Formats: sequence, C-alpha cells, structure tokens
Amino acid sequence: MHQDMKKILVSEDQIIARSKELGKQISEDYTCAKELPLVVGLLKGSVPFLAELIKHIDLDVCIDFMDVSSYEGTESIGDVKVNMDLSSSVKGIPVLLVEDIIDTGRTLKEVTRLLKNKGASDVKVVSLLDKPDRRTVEIEADYVGFVVPNEFVVGFGLDYDQKYRTLPYVGVLKDEVYQ
Ligand code: XMP
Ligand code: MG
Repeated sequence: MHQDMKKILVSEDQIIARSKELGKQISEDYTCAKELPLVVGLLKGSVPFLAELIKHIDLDVCIDFMDVSSYEGTESIGDVKVNMDLSSSVKGIPVLLVEDIIDTGRTLKEVTRLLKNKGASDVKVVSLLDKPDRRTVEIEADYVGFVVPNEFVVGFGLDYDQKYRTLPYVGVLKDEVYQ
C-alpha cells in the first residue's frame, strides 16, 4: 500500500471483477437497443476505469473523451467548464458516459445536458464510484461499480491535486497528507 494511504476501500481485484459484471450487463442492454453507444470518458479520472471496462464490453463501440472541470482541492465549485470537447459528433447517437465518481451530481447533470444539446439520442452513465450522501442535484447513474462513504477518495484515476491517479486501488489518504 502507498505510504500516504490510510486504508483501501476497493481493491484492484474487486474493481476488475465488478468491471466484468458491468461490461456484461452493458453488452446485454445495448444488444437489445437499436444502436451501439459512443463511449465517452471524462478526463482524466475515468481513464483507468474506462480502460478496464471496455475490455468487457462485447460490442464494437467507439470511444471519445471530454475534459470538464468542476472541482478544485476537495470542494466542488458549482458550474462545469469544458476544457476539451469531443472529437466527433454525437448527433442522433446514444452516449454511454464513463465517470470516476458521482459526488454532488452537478458534473453529471451538466454534461448530460450538454450532450443532449449536441443532439445525443440518449445518455446513460456508468460510474466506478457513487457517493450518494453528497448528492445535491437529482441524478443517478445507470450503472455503478461501488457505493463509497462520504470520505475523499483517491486512486484508480481519482486524484488529490493530480496525485495518486495511478494507484491500482481506491482508498482514503492519511489525515496528515492534507496538512
Ligand atoms: P460532482 O460533485 O459534480 O463531482 O458530482 C464529480 C467530480 O468531482 C470529483 N470528485 C472527487 N475526486 N475524490 C476525488 O479524487 C473524491 O472523493 C471526489 N469526489 C468528487 C471527481 O473528479 C468527479 O468527477
Ligand atoms: Mg472527474
């Protein structure tokens, strides 16, 4: 375990096993749907989860990325800013949005609205983690990996000031790291 970590909440094995289950479920759901989704990852936090998940989506999906920011330090700051937009059009196409964590839900609500404005025919969300205790806007993911308690978490894409994204598990940092 990394020296700055207090505890591991979700292990690498758990993430891989759950990604397999989610991939299977998503494959089945979109096999019944008329069209394949464009898989859109939100940079940078979703990258490790997206990479694991798409291995288990048994469909010829395309992927794209968007970079939005809504978070500085450990407190959410309301409105979402688009730093990098999609490289392809989503007009008339269903989108499967991949997130690292749903906290207040504001990012998700705003990005879903943006994609629908761009003409996406449907927007579904898969998030590695969900922190329902922190929700301030009404929104739920269609697929959730793990529900986590109301603690700031890092690893598997999630950062604290850009650090710890490369850890292969999700955990909580020692209190002294924040001092
Ligand atoms: P909202 O509040 O819009 O936030 O749902 C979603 C984004 O906030 C970041 N976030 C976190 N990042 N540990 C992190 O490293 C956390 O515990 C955490 N909670 C929220 C994250 O970027 C997410 O996309
Ligand atoms: Mg994020």
